Amino acid sequence: MERIPTARPSWTDEMRNAAVTTLDSKHWVKGPKGREFGEKFAKYCGALVATPCQNGSSSLWAALRILGVGEGDEVIVPSYTFISSATAIPLAGATAVFVDVEDDYWCLDVNAVEAAITDKTKAVIGVHIYGQPYNPRLFDMCREKGIFLIEDAAQAHGASQVMLDGKELIAGSMGDLGCFSFFPSKNMAVGGEGGMLTTTVSELTDAVSLVVNHGRSPSLESMQLGSNLRMSEVSAAIGTVQLKHLDNWVARRREIAQQYNDAFADLTLVATPKTRPGAKHAWHQYCLTTKYPDQLVKHLDSHGIDARRYYSTPCHKQAVFANHPQHNETLPITDKLSKSLVAIPVMHELSDIEAQRVIEAVVTFSAN
Ligand SMILES: Cc1ncc(COP(=O)(O)O)c(C=O)c1O
Repeated sequence: MERIPTARPSWTDEMRNAAVTTLDSKHWVKGPKGREFGEKFAKYCGALVATPCQNGSSSLWAALRILGVGEGDEVIVPSYTFISSATAIPLAGATAVFVDVEDDYWCLDVNAVEAAITDKTKAVIGVHIYGQPYNPRLFDMCREKGIFLIEDAAQAHGASQVMLDGKELIAGSMGDLGCFSFFPSKNMAVGGEGGMLTTTVSELTDAVSLVVNHGRSPSLESMQLGSNLRMSEVSAAIGTVQLKHLDNWVARRREIAQQYNDAFADLTLVATPKTRPGAKHAWHQYCLTTKYPDQLVKHLDSHGIDARRYYSTPCHKQAVFANHPQHNETLPITDKLSKSLVAIPVMHELSDIEAQRVIEAVVTFSAN
């Protein structure tokens, strides 16, 4: 029986043709494919502009640079996230302030964010963890306090949330700047490394377009600090094709997540993840909560299924933050989640038979 991996990116003739045609054109960088991908992505998520870039990590660094975040500034971030949400902050010269997450939905706890704001706070990086949009109150609170909100949407292509004013916003338009990753395991990919930077703020549109190209204006003068963060034309061509399928792929992830929610609802050894009211979850990961995470991973492994603990070391406890003043602090929910979450396969290319195999394996774990 074939092993079931945790990620399986799509690769079709349409994508292959887009890649080869772009290579054949020898227009490999700074060309029409990147512009088309950016325009289509911005339209998809309701942002003013979107600029393809090298990866999600560089989009986070670029977002902080565009906002002028640097030495002496504080940026609030959850500790329960992928490490680059946090390391982007010291890389920009600022100080990360780690805050706990919500017990139910695992995104930034807005009350804790509010309590952590000081006169040095310049921005908040909110993460749509596993594809679950962050609390819409975060958006209103940042606006009221005059603090920038950077949306780490690296795991949330295709997610949406009904905001407090009743409007439904798609990930990439729920903050001032949005950051995406196209790492191959993500909801859509580009055939290699890739990222996207979006903005909803008209004063930031030029900066978002320029930062990936040394901050250069059309007259080739560097207007702002930037670097070469450009995406290749081949990746952009593949991404444009993948984007066309994103809605169907996310719908498939939602279908599988619903099957899991139904099948696991009454199990005793695992608990199913909750979805925030008003949210359309993008299910980058489907994580079960259990007191026995290592045993669950081992059990699934013995049934030919890859599963992974996420994130077993919170960011502020990682060695890179050994000298950070919060290194030894306990963030209770973060701590609890880091000891109990296991991601099981939920990728859009999972077949019905494979989903059934995953269900049966989790059910037998809980029956043991
Ligand atoms: C929440 C989050 N932020 C940022 C990133 C960084 O993206 P990349 O790996 O493309 O640099 C990731 C990637 O896994 C992520 O999951």
